[in-house]
Amino acid sequence: MISQSKNPLIKDLVNRLRDIRITPKEFRHNLKLLAQLLCMEACSFSLTKKSIPTWIGQKEFSFIEQENIVVVAILRAALPMQEGLLELFPYARGGFLAMKRDETTFEAKLYYTRLPDIEGKNIIIVDPMVATGGSLKSALDILAAKKPASITTLHIVGVKEGLEYTNANHPNAHIHIAQIDAYLNEQKYIIPGLGDAGDRAFHT
Ligand code: URA
Repeated sequence: MISQSKNPLIKDLVNRLRDIRITPKEFRHNLKLLAQLLCMEACSFSLTKKSIPTWIGQKEFSFIEQENIVVVAILRAALPMQEGLLELFPYARGGFLAMKRDETTFEAKLYYTRLPDIEGKNIIIVDPMVATGGSLKSALDILAAKKPASITTLHIVGVKEGLEYTNANHPNAHIHIAQIDAYLNEQKYIIPGLGDAGDRAFHT
């Protein structure tokens, strides 16, 4: 399933990212906030009752099972998004996939993987940009094969073709995006997009 945010706060934050005058620090900060807001919109967690000591004695309250959440970042532009979610879920686990786009074939090549146990877990993949969908599809291939309970993917800007390509290959994943932009240029950059999100975030 593909869903796009309709929230004006999310739209405003995305459009602030388009302004090339913002600093890498502001860029990273907005990615972090957007990841938190997108998660609030798209992630469906059940609550479990736990007994905790409160000021009026031992009481039961409902909590998310954070230990069952794995936040997987596709390096490197997704790092601020992962940080935003790990701030929300301090007991969640983090995973990393590094892919590099071959600039002639535009195919995503995986060159580093570091993942905790995925089986039965609720996976949140973060990746700000969905262009061709190649790296997101490859990430989903790897993670879906490890039998997670659910997969939600969170993105800032993408195009229809990349999102639909991914969804066609992984219809069980919930793909949620802040903004679907117009098209990909010949170099497979999103237009209007953000430019190279990794470079913008880390001033490379
Ligand atoms: N990755 C980016 O960082 N930007 C794009 O426009 C496409 C892929």
